[in-house]
Amino acid sequence: MKTILKKETFAGIIGIGSHLPSKTLTNFDLEKIVDTSDKWIKTRTGISERRIIDDNTGLSDLAVSASKKALFDAGLEITDIDLIILSTCSPEMVMPSTACLVQQKLGAKTIPAFDISAGCTGFIYAVAIGAQFIETGCYKKVLVIGADALSKHLDWTDRGTCVLFGDGAGAVVLGVVEQGYGILSNYLAATGAGANLLKIPAGGSGLPATKDSFVKKLHCVQMNGNEVFKFAVRALPQATNAALRKANLTVDDVDYFIPHQANIRILETAARKLGVGFDKIVNNIDKYGNTSTASIPVALDELWQSGVIKKGDVMLLVGFGAGLTWGANVIKWSKTTSSN
Ligand code: UT7
Repeated sequence: MKTILKKETFAGIIGIGSHLPSKTLTNFDLEKIVDTSDKWIKTRTGISERRIIDDNTGLSDLAVSASKKALFDAGLEITDIDLIILSTCSPEMVMPSTACLVQQKLGAKTIPAFDISAGCTGFIYAVAIGAQFIETGCYKKVLVIGADALSKHLDWTDRGTCVLFGDGAGAVVLGVVEQGYGILSNYLAATGAGANLLKIPAGGSGLPATKDSFVKKLHCVQMNGNEVFKFAVRALPQATNAALRKANLTVDDVDYFIPHQANIRILETAARKLGVGFDKIVNNIDKYGNTSTASIPVALDELWQSGVIKKGDVMLLVGFGAGLTWGANVIKWSKTTSSN
């Protein structure tokens, strides 16, 4: 096989874990809150229920739980980690970064820690960033987390958004893996021209939180669902093909597609456009809804825990989200065992 992979050091996933809050909010619960129905939500999105964070739990707590499981899966301690990258669009605070809160709660000493914001594509971006540090020899082990609690930013009177999202966190430890395994390619893209289609307008420096912003619910998610849908069904196949091309592979080489879990109809349309059987598309949207940047690592962790992934399997992680952003990672699985 001809190859375009020139790197000598390959970064890959050596540990993975996830954490979902225990509180479940079903479609039937939502019927009592807003003018919607279980039937509408299931047919239009594929979602049956989602997990919601309680008032005593912070986003950093979700991220810490997922990280501890990923460290355990890798057979590592926090002292083995050189860098923490946390992707989120619902940080615990505007400042400091949630990554620093996680660093402290995990008992890490002074290793660097920072957040990135790339909407629901954040985990894809964070894996690509983390891999660069390893491939250049700068760091040996990087903890990459995708965590979101968008339930804190929902307008519970807006049926167009409040039925879609859930909370959760997923984490991976990236480390050096065997040559030819691990992250084979990354494809990242963005277009700020679509910034208005999916946003939380208030709470930043452009529109600081005020009584007025609160009353107008400007701290809540606003979305043009139809336009985001159209974007998503273009972006998923485009990112998939672009990342596979960079790895010199085709869709036929992929064992599992792990897409951002936003809407089952988006996944069905993307699979059709790619000519991929739906049995290869990993989806858990019925149980968790759209957990934003957590959805890909949570789905990947569930697949890993189910025991079906074998060393050498090719995984295609692909996402889209606010920004607008989109992207994909191609990963040749290098792990053989889990410590769990
Ligand atoms: O992480 C990335 C972020 N987001 C996404 O990926 C979301 C992408 N977009 C979507 O998934 C879909 O556009 C939605 C699920 C948001 C909406 O589905 P849709 O099939 O595009 O519905 P629609 O917005 O075109 O609305 C159709 C009808 C409207 O009623 P009328 O005007 O036809 O009378 C809506 O008011 O459905 C109504 N509707 C609802 N009805 C019951 C919208 N939301 C609901 C609801 N329950 N929750």
